[in-house]
Amino acid sequence: MTGRLQGKVAVITGGSNGIGRACADRFSAEGARVLIADLLPEPGNIAVDAINAAGGDARFVELEAASEEANEAMAAAAVEQFGTIDIVVTAAGISNGDYTSGDVEGGLKRMAQAAERSAVNPAAALLELELDDWRRVIDVNLTGTLLAIRATAAVMLDQAKPGSIITIASIAARDPLWGSPSYPVSKAGVWMLTKNASRTLAPLGIRVNSIGPGFIDTNMTAALDQVDQYHDLIIGLTPMGRKGKPDEIAGVALFLASDDASYVTGELIHPDGGWFTG
Ligand SMILES: NC(=O)c1ccc[n+]([C@@H]2O[C@H](COP(=O)([O-])OP(=O)(O)OC[C@H]3O[C@@H](n4cnc5c(N)ncnc54)[C@H](O)[C@@H]3O)[C@@H](O)[C@H]2O)c1
Repeated sequence: MTGRLQGKVAVITGGSNGIGRACADRFSAEGARVLIADLLPEPGNIAVDAINAAGGDARFVELEAASEEANEAMAAAAVEQFGTIDIVVTAAGISNGDYTSGDVEGGLKRMAQAAERSAVNPAAALLELELDDWRRVIDVNLTGTLLAIRATAAVMLDQAKPGSIITIASIAARDPLWGSPSYPVSKAGVWMLTKNASRTLAPLGIRVNSIGPGFIDTNMTAALDQVDQYHDLIIGLTPMGRKGKPDEIAGVALFLASDDASYVTGELIHPDGGWFTG
């Protein structure tokens, strides 16, 4: 039996951890060769070794998502190593300007500082927002998505091949959540970028869709779990009463990557445990 992505080549930004890693694992299990591109080589190489040990074909390339040059190098590496690009997932992302995937202590410290600031000034998240934080989140999440789409779509167009590009937005694309505006604004931008790019690229055979997950069990939400107040709020607002698993996002990405979604483009799909039922 052949996999649903047999013979395809997938490039996954942010593939070292969490949602990106789950997509890399799932796509490989379905027959794709996978290039993982990420800022963090150590977990990236662990992911690559695990895929290769299971009989897949994965490689790693270092990527700073906000760099045009690095995105072009990533696309060139995919062509050099695998000859083409059929599928792209742009999962590289940060929740704030200081975010480093896996640094739970740092996340807890930032949450405590934000709570202290808003106790003094309830409008602090907006009025005292540091522009460096805003710029870094927009650079990585939004500009990074644009650069990855551009670099990889250029390869598909050069080779006159169809393709599927999947961006990772968030429920925050349509729900401002709480606190700093940087993240929700970046994700709303990813949503509109996806719709705009899908219109430009549809006549050329490239589909572009977005996934807007609810709260998912990854490094990004690990610090929130340790503070009862936030954990209970999130679970209480999620009708399914639990966070999602990274593989539950990879399943949606697999659908969008596969021929089952051959007439789907410009969509934002929310695997969110029912968040948007209200
Ligand atoms: N976890 C959630 O609840 C959730 C919900 C909605 C959307 N998302 C989005 O899903 C995507 C994946 O997040 P995750 O939850 O798997 O978190 P994660 O921290 O597990 O994974 C994010 C990955 O992106 C990489 N990355 C960060 N900055 C980068 C940069 N500048 N260049 C290249 N790589 C970079 C990290 O090293 C990490 O491997 C993000 O875009 C995030 O915003 C997550």
